[in-house]
Amino acid sequence: MLKTDFLGMKLDNPVMIAAGPWNRDGKGIKESIEAGAGAVVTESIVSDTLLDVRPRISCDDKGAQNIRLYSDIQIEGWEREMDIAKSAGGVVIASVSGHTASEVAYLASKLEKFGADAIELSVSNPAVESLEVVASHADVVYEMTKEIVTAVKIPVIAKLSQNTTNISKVAKAVKDAGGSGVTAINTVRGILGVDIENAAPMLSTYGGISGEYIRPLGLASVATIAQTVDIPICGVGGISEYKHALEYIMLGASAVQVGTAVMLEGREVIRKIVQDLEIWAQNHHISTLSELRGKALENLKSFEEMKFEPAVSHSSGVPCGENCSKCISACMYQAISRKGGQISVDRTRCTGCGLCTFICPANMLKLDL
Ligand SMILES: Cc1cc2nc3c(=O)[nH]c(=O)nc-3n(C[C@H](O)[C@H](O)[C@H](O)COP(=O)(O)O)c2cc1C
Ligand code: SF4
Ligand code: SF4
Repeated sequence: MLKTDFLGMKLDNPVMIAAGPWNRDGKGIKESIEAGAGAVVTESIVSDTLLDVRPRISCDDKGAQNIRLYSDIQIEGWEREMDIAKSAGGVVIASVSGHTASEVAYLASKLEKFGADAIELSVSNPAVESLEVVASHADVVYEMTKEIVTAVKIPVIAKLSQNTTNISKVAKAVKDAGGSGVTAINTVRGILGVDIENAAPMLSTYGGISGEYIRPLGLASVATIAQTVDIPICGVGGISEYKHALEYIMLGASAVQVGTAVMLEGREVIRKIVQDLEIWAQNHHISTLSELRGKALENLKSFEEMKFEPAVSHSSGVPCGENCSKCISACMYQAISRKGGQISVDRTRCTGCGLCTFICPANMLKLDL
């Protein structure tokens, strides 16, 4: 039911573990495969390994900021690591990053020889200024993708950034260069927080924000690419449960990746997502998840297509507990009040903004459309 064909690769399920230090070597990748991931992406492999700065990862209950750069294992060392990784029998995608097209193509061809099933070109690390620029330059992404495509026979995917003004243009450049797919998105440049007693940001430089904070950005990026470019998409950003994976798939993704949830909750989160996806699909009589791909795009309109005719809210009339008055305080048009233990909406005041229908924990308010 969850079996997925992604770029010709046969995956047991569409849930991959994203590039990051949890996949920093063969042992980590093997553990990721054994945790039930459909495929595993290595931490980004580069030609000039850098020393790690310290500290480099902060987190809170919604996500993380990292300034971890790339794999600290030299390309030659990856022959050994890929052997270990592939000994678990799963699909391994090698992530490469670099400053020039020839550099990334060299790394890709080496990694193909070492046994990688596909290449993911990462041009989108927001902790490094120069690479962030690459992510927004369709012409450079085109050149890099094309040179890798010429150098290898395995599928080539480019991992895109939300830190760009026109992600469709970059995705189109990948397609035009012969790339087989895109992954969206990498972390988003940000500062997770400031220790106000010491006037110190949690990490001492800008970094990549990941986790729950970026899921809405990832969803929008995937939907935008799906609506504008005919290319397979792997969705990533803020996935920690099966519902999030389904959201990405319904907005056009063929597969998904999980990063921060693996880092913060452990690899077991993958098994849970896969199991819950299976149960959901069974309960909804879905024989293959590809039936759902892009389903929500049918209901995603452009602003020009949105309705302007009046729509007003109504309460279901069910009595409300005195301990809640969320909708009353949220309504900026003073349309909601409590009368005789029931919530009532003054339909002459309601402007149909919709906020009360989302804020009500009991789902008691509806909009007449
Ligand atoms: C600590 C850390 C290190 C990461 N390293 C890489 C990397 O080496 N290459 C890459 O392309 N993405 C890297 N990422 C980005 C993730 O693969 C993923 O795109 C991003 O975190 C969003 O997904 P998430 O919210 O599930 O984490 C890293 C993310 C984190 C948190
Ligand atoms: S839809 Fe908006 S304006 Fe109407 S009652 Fe709800 S919050 Fe108020
Ligand atoms: S938000 Fe919902 S539960 Fe709370 S008072 Fe309004 S209608 Fe009742």
